[in-house]
Amino acid sequence: MQAEKVSDTPLEFIVEYLAKAMKIARDHPGVPEDLRSNLQKALNIASGLDSYLEMTSSPESQPLAELYRKTIEHDWKKAFEEGKTSFRLPKECITGHVEGQVLKMLVRVSGARRVLEIGMFTGYGALSMAEGLPEDGRLVACEMEPYLKEFAQPVFDSSPHGRKITVKTGPAMRSLKGDECRDEVFHGVQGKSVLDRLRLDGRVAYVTGAGQGIGRAFAHALGEAGAKVAVVDLDDRKAERVAQELALKGIQSTAVTADISKPQSVQGMVDAIVAKWGTIHIGCNNAGINMNSASEDTSLDEWDQTFGVNLRGTFICCQAAGRIMLNQGYGKIINTASMAGLIVPHPQKQLAYNASKAGVVKLTQTLGTEWIDRGVRVNCISPGIVDTPLIHSEELGPLVQRWLSDIPAGRLAQVTDLQAAVVYLASDASDYMTGHNLVIEGGQSLW
Ligand SMILES: NC(=O)c1ccc[n+]([C@@H]2O[C@H](COP(=O)([O-])OP(=O)(O)OC[C@H]3O[C@@H](n4cnc5c(N)ncnc54)[C@H](O)[C@@H]3O)[C@@H](O)[C@H]2O)c1
Repeated sequence: MQAEKVSDTPLEFIVEYLAKAMKIARDHPGVPEDLRSNLQKALNIASGLDSYLEMTSSPESQPLAELYRKTIEHDWKKAFEEGKTSFRLPKECITGHVEGQVLKMLVRVSGARRVLEIGMFTGYGALSMAEGLPEDGRLVACEMEPYLKEFAQPVFDSSPHGRKITVKTGPAMRSLKGDECRDEVFHGVQGKSVLDRLRLDGRVAYVTGAGQGIGRAFAHALGEAGAKVAVVDLDDRKAERVAQELALKGIQSTAVTADISKPQSVQGMVDAIVAKWGTIHIGCNNAGINMNSASEDTSLDEWDQTFGVNLRGTFICCQAAGRIMLNQGYGKIINTASMAGLIVPHPQKQLAYNASKAGVVKLTQTLGTEWIDRGVRVNCISPGIVDTPLIHSEELGPLVQRWLSDIPAGRLAQVTDLQAAVVYLASDASDYMTGHNLVIEGGQSLW
């Protein structure tokens, strides 16, 4: 059924008035031909605009077309007289095809995920916008009239996008205050969903020992979560290669060469990052070494080297980055300890390594409690046995079967098993966690 034409939009009013003026001009012979001709041209242009937009806009979906038809054909006068609605609802209230597509486009280009609509009528605008929302998007439509919710809901239900829509009936102010408790659990801390709270956009991070292995995986994870990442390694070529990998993924990155066992080198690393990006928010002290030897054969040189990198080096990094963080009242330090700080992995012999990693846990606990009241959280991750090329060496390769029998998870860790943990500890979502040792070892330390 064709809608009875009643002007509703500014353009429709312009067309209506131009048509009236044109009729007067036609009926009065004294009107100059020029005026009549110009009026006719203006009317032609104005009256063609809506149909032009209809033609050039994307077609509406089947449920939208159904909603339009249902709204236009409905007897709104009768609904009012029967007391089903408390307003005389004009069908022209409906959001039309072109407006619906514009709303859908705006929702999509703005990347909106939550939409609030106040005043739904029969839901054409709501469904158009819902079509523009992502799968997990939500639209809340506040509508005075329960009758309109009943009217729209069957069509919403027939659309794959209808489940994104929640209609709240009654006065909008009451709906917005809500019946439920609208606290941070409901709305998210600072309005952010839990996944958004894990994001690291705008943060500056560094990862030591990021030229390969676990550090490389940490650098990718932090960058994927939105941070700018300084890839730090003793080996400049490895650092450069990983920084380039990150850049390929659109992550802002820089390669920094540093030996974390040397205070001057660490200070140079911190200065370079601050000079480039202004500050440091996330310090990931991951570089470490392990030289296996039986305790009776462990030389003091091996002991000093191992401690020099693993414990002393980690402390030097914590202190240099910590000073920046304490100064700005914010920071996240994540040290890489090891399951070897908890249990004695066997049968390989690695006294100095085990002792140094136990030291990293205690360093983390102490700094974590000492600096938390100044906004700096310090935690550590203790991986179990990680499947790196090192483990497949001639010396360690034969031990893999033995280790596997000690691991409830039945496999070695992959570097990717550790990535979410570093993002969590680097993010605001873990703000209440400090001095913690996050053990990720497939259950190995429990057997
Ligand atoms: N691989 C495992 O099974 C395992 C298990 C638990 C803990 N860890 C710990 O995880 C961390 C990373 O281990 P990985 O297996 O990725 O190591 P890896 O040997 O594969 O990589 C370590 C990186 O650190 C760099 N590095 C070494 N000494 C450095 C120094 N003084 N300054 C700067 N960079 C230095 C190396 O060049 C290398 O790129 C280490 O602290 C290690 O002790 C590893």
